[in-house]
Amino acid sequence: MAKRVLVIGQGGREHALVWKLAQSPNVDKIYAAPGNPGIAELAECIDIKIDDIEGLLEFAQNNCIDITIVGPELPLMLGIVDKFRANNLKIFGPTKGAAQLEGSKVFTKNLFKKYAIPTADYEVFDDITLAKDYVKDYLVDGKKLVIKVDGLAQGKGVVIATNMEEAYLALDSMLLSKDFGEAGNNVIIEEFLEGEEVSVFAVCDGQDYITLISAQDHKSIYDNDEGPNTGGMGAYVNPPIYNDGLHKEVGKTILDKVVTAMAEEGYPYTGVLYAGLMITEAGPKVLEFNARFGDPETQVIMPMLKTDLLDIIEKTCNNNLKGLTVELFSGSAVCVVLSASGYPGEYEKGLLIEGLNNLSEDVLVFQAGTMAKDGRLFTNGGRVLGLVCLGQDIEEAVTKVYEHIKPINFAGMHYRTDIGKKAIDR
Ligand code: AMP
Ligand code: GLY
Repeated sequence: MAKRVLVIGQGGREHALVWKLAQSPNVDKIYAAPGNPGIAELAECIDIKIDDIEGLLEFAQNNCIDITIVGPELPLMLGIVDKFRANNLKIFGPTKGAAQLEGSKVFTKNLFKKYAIPTADYEVFDDITLAKDYVKDYLVDGKKLVIKVDGLAQGKGVVIATNMEEAYLALDSMLLSKDFGEAGNNVIIEEFLEGEEVSVFAVCDGQDYITLISAQDHKSIYDNDEGPNTGGMGAYVNPPIYNDGLHKEVGKTILDKVVTAMAEEGYPYTGVLYAGLMITEAGPKVLEFNARFGDPETQVIMPMLKTDLLDIIEKTCNNNLKGLTVELFSGSAVCVVLSASGYPGEYEKGLLIEGLNNLSEDVLVFQAGTMAKDGRLFTNGGRVLGLVCLGQDIEEAVTKVYEHIKPINFAGMHYRTDIGKKAIDR
């Protein structure tokens, strides 16, 4: 029987998930909480916030939801999966305990150490004096290091320090001024890794996992990876650096081990396993794990997926992934994010978005920070739209997407002009 699905979230990632689910012959009705105007074209949006776990549970119970799919990390950290399962509701995502893989860098780094999973060397500190002493001894001969808060910090809790002044400033902010609240009670100081970053996306049912695809995000706001980090300014699939050999190595030295480790620690992992990797000269090393799909990576992953998304998700929830083969379309996909002026800092909202009518069918527009009023669309966030094009190869996809951006406009609109360039240069 066709299913009634609830998707939690309101960004471009959730728009892409809903877009893919809407193509499934096994989906009867999609709800999104709270959704956005783009999602509203494909699903019924309901006004419940992503952290209102009781409200979401009540909605799922009262509306005969067969399966709930969690987009962002916050509800996972709040234990939505535990709550829904305790009420016999099917939900896609890790439990609160398992979501520590994203929610606590200290938990995860210690897990890596215990199970010999390759990652940057590190130390954990909660004492400012000890942390500063460590930094003083470490930062010699032009060495760099990376300082991270333990908990969630919306991508802002990581500082790459090239000198003592930068390092001390970061430590003061995290451990003394408590700029990150409890998330900064512990900090990790780790070795700086040189290399190219790759994200690998898998789904895991607690025991078995299946890799879906790899992708590359573009975190910095400006071209050439300059400027502050954002949630992600663009992405493409199958970065050429991530070849078959590397894929096998990552499976053996990282994913197999993490899945086993989580089960052994009493947190069998269910949901998306998103590995953020640095491909170093010494091999792939883990920078971080996320417990959910990436944004904007999902906007390129969904169009590449030939297999029914609901099937993958149901099999994950039913501990039945073994034997599933995930099929992908050939070619490439690229996403370019259009952001508001000022993002990732302060930015204005409510700016009229123009040029979205009469777009070619060749381009997908996934909405993120948007708001509809009187039949017109306005900006309502930092990352406003994600434009996605497919191509026979990355070059074609990139050429197309930049062509399709041309008619779109809002005041102060910004986007990177070099998405996919690393792949093309290779
Ligand atoms: P994280 O949240 O730990 O993934 O860190 C955010 C970003 O900081 C990563 O995507 C990298 O670009 C950078 N980063 C984090 N850790 C390191 C490291 N040990 N070496 C180099 N860059 C890093
Ligand atoms: N694009 C990075 C993330 O979703 O965490």
